[in-house]
Amino acid sequence: MVTGASGALGRLVVAALLDRVAAAELILVTRSPDSLADAARRGATVRYGDFEKAASLPAALAGGQRMLAISTIGATDTAAAHRAAFDAAAEARVEHIVWTSVSNPVDANPFPAAKIHARSERDLRASGIACTILRNALYAELRVRITAKYIHDGRWTTNMGDGSHAFVARTDCAAAAAAALTETAPAGRVYDITGPELVDAQQYVALLEEFGGRQVVRDDVEDADYGRYRGAFAANPDYAAYFELFTGTGQAIRTGYLRQLGDGVQQLTGRSPLSLRQVFEQQRTLNRSSRRGQRTPDPTKPDPRTRRLTGLARRQFATDTPCR
Ligand SMILES: NC(=O)c1ccc[n+]([C@@H]2O[C@H](COP(=O)([O-])OP(=O)(O)OC[C@H]3O[C@@H](n4cnc5c(N)ncnc54)[C@H](OP(=O)(O)O)[C@@H]3O)[C@@H](O)[C@H]2O)c1
Repeated sequence: MVTGASGALGRLVVAALLDRVAAAELILVTRSPDSLADAARRGATVRYGDFEKAASLPAALAGGQRMLAISTIGATDTAAAHRAAFDAAAEARVEHIVWTSVSNPVDANPFPAAKIHARSERDLRASGIACTILRNALYAELRVRITAKYIHDGRWTTNMGDGSHAFVARTDCAAAAAAALTETAPAGRVYDITGPELVDAQQYVALLEEFGGRQVVRDDVEDADYGRYRGAFAANPDYAAYFELFTGTGQAIRTGYLRQLGDGVQQLTGRSPLSLRQVFEQQRTLNRSSRRGQRTPDPTKPDPRTRRLTGLARRQFATDTPCR
């Protein structure tokens, strides 16, 4: 079972799962079932479920054994929405939850989602359900996509200072999640799902200049100035397609709270995660093919390397223990 199945990560996970298990084995839960009509045609069960509408959850989760719960975004009270999902899973006697968390979810971490996830991990453990926690680093794809703006401006405004972060490809997060859902990873494990290396501002600018073909000035600013820049960015409809880091995210990178480097992708999938450079290269290939009017690769399809997981058998999870 996958909740949040129609989001960017959810779709990648579903595609990866459809490569390795029969569609009829999948229950896909989403707030927009119509958008998963393709998966339904292939035989997956698609159900409506919204963590903010607790009444929708018993029917949505009924019969699910192993559940990938994708954390939400934009809920009125995100931690409460997550809690509702764990409670409903316990009621539905779900045996194991694979949960997407964030890097270093501690209350002191200024990364905006950290406090929420600190609470959600506590709530998940308190539910008594066996679980696997995937602490996903920041998505590399979002950092690569926004480079079009920085390259156009010839300027990158940042408050991350000299900190560094191991940006991870969303495709690797999806591959790791699909593996955790279908393999016999022991319950109670916490994986840091990160890219293969820490990348600092200097290295990021070097990539911007290499792939942009022009000089890009790095504008290091204080948090308050970054907050003003971020506010203007968010208010500008021209930038609607991009996601800019929150002030607290840059602060967390600068202060070392997001300096995690883990081997979760390797452990779960048996292969190395993509580097930020490789995600840049993928984006360049996409841009070139769309400029030439070629049929562009579907970015919602999983990395072909994830097919390596196909041979890994699904087994029973008799050894699962509660995630404490
Ligand atoms: N690592 C990062 O850099 C990063 C960045 C942004 C977000 N995230 C987190 O990772 C998650 C997946 O990322 P993404 O790129 O797939 O985000 P996305 O494309 O924006 O998708 C949002 C996800 O949240 C789910 N959702 C939202 N409200 C919900 C609700 N009330 N009940 C149940 N599900 C709800 C959506 O499910 P349906 O629409 O199918 O119902 C969907 O799976 C996000 O939701 C967020 O928690 C991580």
